Amino acid sequence: MTKNFKRTTITAALPYANGGVHIGHLAGVYVPADIYARYLRLKKEDVIFIGGSDEHGVPITIRAKKEGITPQDVCDRYHKIIKDSFKEFGISFDIYSRTTSPTHNKLASDFFRKLYDDGKLIEKESEQLYDPEAKQFLADRYVMGTCPHCGNPNAYGDQCEKCGSDLSPLELINPHSTISGAKPELRKTKNWYLPLNQYQDWLKEWILEGHKEWRPNVYGQCKSWLDMDLQPRAMTRDLDWGIPVPVEGAEGKVLYVWFDAPIGYISNTKELCDAEPERWGSWEKWWKDPDTRLVHFIGKDNIVFHCLIFPVMLKAHGGYILPDNVPANEFLNLENDKISTSRNWAVWLDEYLRDFPGKQDVLRYVLTANAPETKDNNFTWKDFQERNNSELVAIYGNFVNRALQLTKKYWNGVVPACGELLDVDRQAIQEFKDVKEKVEQYLDNFKFREAQKEAMNLARIGNKYITECEPWKVWKTDPKRVETILNISLQLVANLAIAFEPFLPFSSKKLRKMINLKNFDWAELGSTDLLEAGHQLAEPQLLFEKIEDDAIQRQLDKLAATKKANEAAEAAKDYKAEPIKPNIPFDEWEKLDIRVGHVKACQKVKKSNKLLQFTIDDGSGTDRTILSGIAKFYKPEDLEGKDVLFIANLAPRKMMGIESQGMILSALNFDGSLSVTTTLSSVKPGSQVG
Ligand code: MF3
Ligand code: ZN
Repeated sequence: MTKNFKRTTITAALPYANGGVHIGHLAGVYVPADIYARYLRLKKEDVIFIGGSDEHGVPITIRAKKEGITPQDVCDRYHKIIKDSFKEFGISFDIYSRTTSPTHNKLASDFFRKLYDDGKLIEKESEQLYDPEAKQFLADRYVMGTCPHCGNPNAYGDQCEKCGSDLSPLELINPHSTISGAKPELRKTKNWYLPLNQYQDWLKEWILEGHKEWRPNVYGQCKSWLDMDLQPRAMTRDLDWGIPVPVEGAEGKVLYVWFDAPIGYISNTKELCDAEPERWGSWEKWWKDPDTRLVHFIGKDNIVFHCLIFPVMLKAHGGYILPDNVPANEFLNLENDKISTSRNWAVWLDEYLRDFPGKQDVLRYVLTANAPETKDNNFTWKDFQERNNSELVAIYGNFVNRALQLTKKYWNGVVPACGELLDVDRQAIQEFKDVKEKVEQYLDNFKFREAQKEAMNLARIGNKYITECEPWKVWKTDPKRVETILNISLQLVANLAIAFEPFLPFSSKKLRKMINLKNFDWAELGSTDLLEAGHQLAEPQLLFEKIEDDAIQRQLDKLAATKKANEAAEAAKDYKAEPIKPNIPFDEWEKLDIRVGHVKACQKVKKSNKLLQFTIDDGSGTDRTILSGIAKFYKPEDLEGKDVLFIANLAPRKMMGIESQGMILSALNFDGSLSVTTTLSSVKPGSQVG
């Protein structure tokens, strides 16, 4: 099964260009893909790492409509944001292009046309929803109506977000088009289908027999699909955003986004190779040579497209290689809740960088340590802090700092020569030689968490070694021996720079600068000759810094505020205003005397957690005292100096031993909170309200 390949094409799922990138994307797809690409490059293997934005599909058109801009505008905005985020986090794509590029348009179009010409597609009529006013077919998402399961009046044609049911637009009660509001009708339309059923036996053989080494979650999902009967799947859509279907009589139709997007991997490769042929050779070598290994990094929701549909497309087309592995990840949760863009339950990369500038590697480290490789996993800010402080700072950073500071102190920052080895030296050297093989084994099998753990063991070995050798003591009796201890410690430091390069590229770069390590490659890992005696080191700096509680608290507060806002929005959805009270004659209304008062002072009423005591200037020259039950919603000092509306002729009432002369008017919000009313512009105290 393990074949010797000559080169590797690595792809990472093309993110939709309708939003930014968050930690779930990084952890699930881009960090592992990047680790893998960097690892192979360090091994001097021939590798190409392909990325790009997925710019077609219905969600982008919906977003554009909402904002009153074109789909292309939406793509331009997010393509840039996404591309920048990846760059900042060191995701080392050889190209990051987009599916609206002309190269892609042509390649996807030609790909479809070949399938069509070779008779690989089935032409079929079906009934689709049509908006008679807007005169266009409606994607499922463009239809809304009442959910037949839970009665939610705002269910989408593909899904009810309230009860989570998958729907088809025909199931909705009272369906309406979100474009015109019209009632959709069924109309016949022609589309082209990929007959997945014809490839079912082949898929079974290829995956279930041929790729038992795939991750259990990937293999399992494929198996459960393949245990059912696959159905032909439409590869075209009646939509006006996408790549036109290159067939006569297909006006107004575009390629299905899941048809064109994976071809984007190929077109982006072509774009890169065409631009720099001396460096990359022909694009076909990366996609058509059986000696090339193809690896797709994706999230679990993409498995069916990358393991079944795209391979069937490639096979039907002919001439292409198939993926050798598809290391899909499960999902990452945030503080025990599902990451959600619409609920803003996410850590966005641009916000992270604003809050933790320069700490890209910390996030990379924590996300790999918690990589959802075999099951969903969880990101918490406490764990983030803990792993930074007690692993990156206390183990890795600490070892490096000890080794460099001791060398500076005893040897002016010059690498001393290695003398005769003792048992303790030999043992440390053996231990760190073993690490190389383990890290490799894990990386070769896409076990990134374990691989990173092993890399961290190098630093553990180093700390243990220095502690055991106690150079600061030995220095007084046997300075020659200290030379050997330092030499070995420094070799270990150099090893760390190599071992962590795939995982923490920014820190490795910083570390290499500190030790003036110019050329390095993976093969040298485990070597004790990385730094020659007499080699001058640069000034040591701290590799990582502690993250304090307040920085973590700020993040938790931010999430708590998001949660609160979501809850309020959720409650507001079901809120109905109280019914209006029965009419009253005008003269009854006239009996009320409502005035504007200026709050001169406001304080809490002792022993009451509800009442605030106001001292009001009511224009009469004598202060008026009013009690109001809004202590839960305001700090007294925030109300001082404000103008409020109050009923001036309400019979006085005594509460908590204080006489209240009137009532301050507040709006009762649907969630039970109170909001004091005021005037839009300042008026004199005592002014009448009516
Ligand atoms: N845009 C898709 C998503 O975010 C992934 C597309 S991967 C590709 O789920 F293969 F189609 F490019
Ligand atoms: Zn529902």
